[in-house]
Amino acid sequence: MTAKEIRSAYLQFFENKKHHIVASAPIVVKDDPTLMFTNAGMNQFKDLFLGEAPIKYKRVADTQRCLRVSGKHNDLEEVGIDTYHHTMFEMLGNWSFGDYFKKEAIAWSWELLTEVYKIPKDKLYVSVFEGDEKEGLPQDTEAYELWKQYVPEDRIIFGNKKDNFWEMGDTGPCGPCSEIHVDCRPEYERAASSGKSLVNADHPQVIEIWNNVFMQFNRLKDGSLQPLSSNHVDTGMGFERLVRVLQNKASNYDTDVFQPLIQFIAQKAGIVYGAAEKTDIAMRVMADHIRAISFVIADGQLPANNKAGYVIRRILRRAVRYAYTFLDLKEPFLNQLVPVLAQQFKGVFDELSEQQDFVQKVVLEEEVSFLRTLATGIQRFENYTKKQGELLMSENAIDKEKSFEDPWVYSILKDQMVISGAFAFELNDTYGFPIDLTELMAREKNWLVDMEEYNIALLKQKERSRAATAVDTGDWVLVNPNLDVDFVGYDDFEVETQIIKYRKVSLKGKEQYQLVLSKTPFYAESGGQVGDAGRLEDHSRLFFVEVTDTKKENGLTVHYTDTLPEDLEGTFWAVIAKDQRLLSQDNHSATHLLHAALKKVLGVHVNQKGSLVNPDYLRFDFSHFAKITEEELAKIEHLVNQKVRENIPLKEQRDVPYEQALSSGVTALFGEKYGDFVRIITFDDHYSKELCGGTHVQATGQIGYFKITAESAVAAGVRRIEAITADKAEAFILDQNKEINELRALLKGNKDLKVAVSTLLEENAKLKKEADKAVVEQAANLKHEIVHHVKTINGINLIAAHVDLPHVDAVKNLAFAIKETVDNLFLVFTTNIDDKPGITVMLSDNLVTEKGFNASIIVRELAKDIQGGGGGQPFYATAGGKNKDGLPLVLLKAAEMVK
Ligand code: SER
Repeated sequence: MTAKEIRSAYLQFFENKKHHIVASAPIVVKDDPTLMFTNAGMNQFKDLFLGEAPIKYKRVADTQRCLRVSGKHNDLEEVGIDTYHHTMFEMLGNWSFGDYFKKEAIAWSWELLTEVYKIPKDKLYVSVFEGDEKEGLPQDTEAYELWKQYVPEDRIIFGNKKDNFWEMGDTGPCGPCSEIHVDCRPEYERAASSGKSLVNADHPQVIEIWNNVFMQFNRLKDGSLQPLSSNHVDTGMGFERLVRVLQNKASNYDTDVFQPLIQFIAQKAGIVYGAAEKTDIAMRVMADHIRAISFVIADGQLPANNKAGYVIRRILRRAVRYAYTFLDLKEPFLNQLVPVLAQQFKGVFDELSEQQDFVQKVVLEEEVSFLRTLATGIQRFENYTKKQGELLMSENAIDKEKSFEDPWVYSILKDQMVISGAFAFELNDTYGFPIDLTELMAREKNWLVDMEEYNIALLKQKERSRAATAVDTGDWVLVNPNLDVDFVGYDDFEVETQIIKYRKVSLKGKEQYQLVLSKTPFYAESGGQVGDAGRLEDHSRLFFVEVTDTKKENGLTVHYTDTLPEDLEGTFWAVIAKDQRLLSQDNHSATHLLHAALKKVLGVHVNQKGSLVNPDYLRFDFSHFAKITEEELAKIEHLVNQKVRENIPLKEQRDVPYEQALSSGVTALFGEKYGDFVRIITFDDHYSKELCGGTHVQATGQIGYFKITAESAVAAGVRRIEAITADKAEAFILDQNKEINELRALLKGNKDLKVAVSTLLEENAKLKKEADKAVVEQAANLKHEIVHHVKTINGINLIAAHVDLPHVDAVKNLAFAIKETVDNLFLVFTTNIDDKPGITVMLSDNLVTEKGFNASIIVRELAKDIQGGGGGQPFYATAGGKNKDGLPLVLLKAAEMVK
């Protein structure tokens, strides 16, 4: 079976078992503060397990793109070195939400593996949870008994909490699990020894392929386990491993999932895959990493200097540097893998092929900039070892002429040739050098790296960034747990409500509360629109608690407050700050009009890459490869304003089935997770139709006026437009108008400002030219005069004079011009330009080289008389000071010096 067939067979199998097939969620997680990337198929169902969202389908299956490079599940360092860990991998999964449990899950997994995929039964081992006394968890005898029907008992293994109790993160849904392992060793090895002891022992040929988790608990912040309201099933099968098993390969990389990429790399590098361990690892790293990089970018996360953007940047750098060091690929190349990958995933994850050019461009740009950094870093490394080396030689009194290559020198210095941890850390932090690269380069030169110091520096940095973002979240306290959650904010600005639950949060030491309400008009930050602020008012409307912000967490709307209301169980009025919300709405609707205008003016390649909508302004990032010209900007702005003036009424459709929405030609965004039912916002069926959860104006006329204030580049292939609307746009225009009127007044009521200012500029340029000419003439006259007053003392030609020129450059030119004509020159000028006393010293070169005079030292000595200081080169130096009365003394002292 090809990889494609294997994937389809899985989905087909569970579809036949009445599972609803869903799309993979984006790999970048948006609404879960505990997670950056999707690290398991079950992530998108977290709120279903916790009972925080309604269950639409009780049985679901899919293939989910996952990434395990940060947080609790982190495989990055193994990737490429071994043959079965990956950054991005596909997880095939089937789920039961309060429906079937262990019996069916176990029976079906066995049926699929042995009857559909036909894996020989004697290659399989299964594990069950042995229990954990400390946690008060019993042995999973139920799973054991069920497995016994299919698997001989000597192939069932009891596993501990680490291997057989699956948890999503430090908190969240969890439960005992049963893993299925395959012994892929060759026939004769399997005959010689049982694979049982090799299970979970990091054996490259005895690997876990499928995990069946029986979700029963929610792990709370305090570490305790809270039983879930019903039992669920969460299974996850590593697709790349499954393919490898079914295609009978010794490595995941030998399957048709990776070979197209590997062969492409091998050809480019001119090295055969399989030729040497080092080059093989490098090819595997590249083939693996480009998958993670491409899908993360396609799902909307660009490389950046923090958070998810930094993780992806580090993965990209790891790939580039393996290519650079081991495959000798010194030019950007990684990006060329994007089309190969996009082709491979057509019909599976179309997000990539649909954005192929964009993704490739972003990768290329990152590569170019990292290769540049890499070169600078290598130079810094060379300089460091050279300088340190010279220092060591001199400390050990070794002749400078001797070379480092010299075995005798090495034998003396070898224990001291250590690269400081601080420097290695700087290379890592500033130049993105992975530490193993620094070690490798060091080893090539016989140096060592002080890893202890490096690790301390690394730890310190981690602590610093943790402290900067530390959020300490308490567990939820239930107040009115039986109430449903209802968002009424599309229709109402206030509503009577109750608190369902709350928790205490400490953010950088500041205490806050988060509240979940039964009914709420508060819009939670999403789709770029900021969350509402407002109040929880009691019935007298006299007492209230301020709501500072509203955010989404998984499916929940969470209200942020600084205090708690006194009567927690009572009812309140939840009231949003209406003015702010209305301004945000203007900007949000304008964003839709802008998005449509961009597609019309620039082309349909324009895709939203990010947006921010708040009461003050809107910011819209989108894919486009060139700077937008003035004319284009004017066209875009005009089109939007035209739509504003048309006063198009809002058409809002709620709960439209997703597929139906798509076929009606709606704009959906990459990297956005849509439910089965969506909301469509339309302004004119033929103009703008978007999937959107935000709040909008009733008709476009409310936007008033739309004004673009800035256009810029955000990253490779991504442009940004900032704009304002309504009151802000009016204020902006009024301000500009005022400024123009003021200018006009300054220019004496001159009607045509452009003519008036260009005349001024022309006149100014002319005057400047004349002034410069005058200065040159003045300097020439001065030179003539000064040269006539040279005093020769002891064979030295002294010039000590006060010069009156309008700027320092003129003085400098004069000094240099005199140096050209007078030999054995010892020149001292005093000046008082703009009432600031100054000194210039110029010496003939021979006075410096033969007599050892030094203009810097001389000028500092002379500057004492004007209470100043300065410096420069041995033949030319300047000083400034505070006391102009000292200037005549300077000239006398200069003559004394020469004498
Ligand atoms: N959540 C489990 C895992 O990731 C099974 O899907 O292994």
